[in-house]
Amino acid sequence: MSALTLSGEALEAQTENLSNMPLTDVLRWCWDTFGPLAAVGTSFQGAGLVLLHHAVQAGLSFPVFTLDTGLLFAETLETKSRLEAFFGIQIESLVPELSLEQQAVQFGPELWNRNPDTCCQLRKVEPLKERLSTLSVWITGVRAEQGATRKKTAILERYLFDPLLERHLFKLNPMVNWKREAVWEYLRAHGIPYNPLQDRGYRSIGCQPCTRLAGEADDERAGRWAGFDKTECGIHTFLPAAP
Ligand code: ADX
Ligand code: SF4
Repeated sequence: MSALTLSGEALEAQTENLSNMPLTDVLRWCWDTFGPLAAVGTSFQGAGLVLLHHAVQAGLSFPVFTLDTGLLFAETLETKSRLEAFFGIQIESLVPELSLEQQAVQFGPELWNRNPDTCCQLRKVEPLKERLSTLSVWITGVRAEQGATRKKTAILERYLFDPLLERHLFKLNPMVNWKREAVWEYLRAHGIPYNPLQDRGYRSIGCQPCTRLAGEADDERAGRWAGFDKTECGIHTFLPAAP
């Protein structure tokens, strides 16, 4: 069975193997198996930077992309440039089809205040889907302890990307069992640039209109979409698991 068709018991066995490997070995397996058909998606927060550092140090040239909604903090965009210089890489910005002005004309002003699900669909999920249609593996920095919706994340997951074409997509979550403290210890130890908003108390940083400071006792992602019954933007929930 080729890695592309891994499923059932073989997928479970590979998932178990990967769970017991050091981070660099997990990334090397992915590169050796999929090469540049595996890409890292990052919002420049802690965990994704740890995995990027491991990949760059091991000479694994995964493409790296970020979803630039047009509503990111200036500090986040600045962090992107500092990371490109630090790692010596280019980070692709995936932009929505509609500009903010076009979105306001079609859906009304400040859609994020009225219907954040539609706004996230237009500005994050659709551009991501387009990029994923060119990939076999999406590498993320998701961690299980980030909140209730992420507790059951596995290191390797298989999704049905396109039911009509029966096209599958793997999601590799190599940081799944890392704790927040370990991530920050690593970033500091290696002098890796990070978003300065973290030092101002923001523990989860997304688009400016939908990010607030959260209390220390709250879930890490409690400051996202405050005032709405919404804890996920949809990029980690839109894909159906493969049967
Ligand atoms: S989100 O769902 O709230 O936006 P979070 O900020 O916790 O996600 O990040 C979890 C993982 O989702 C990141 O490690 C990254 O892999 C992916 N991700 C989140 N936001 C982006 C983004 N703007 N661009 C690319 N990947 C992202
Ligand atoms: Fe729109 Fe907010 Fe989603 Fe960003 S996080 S895409 S502003 S709803």
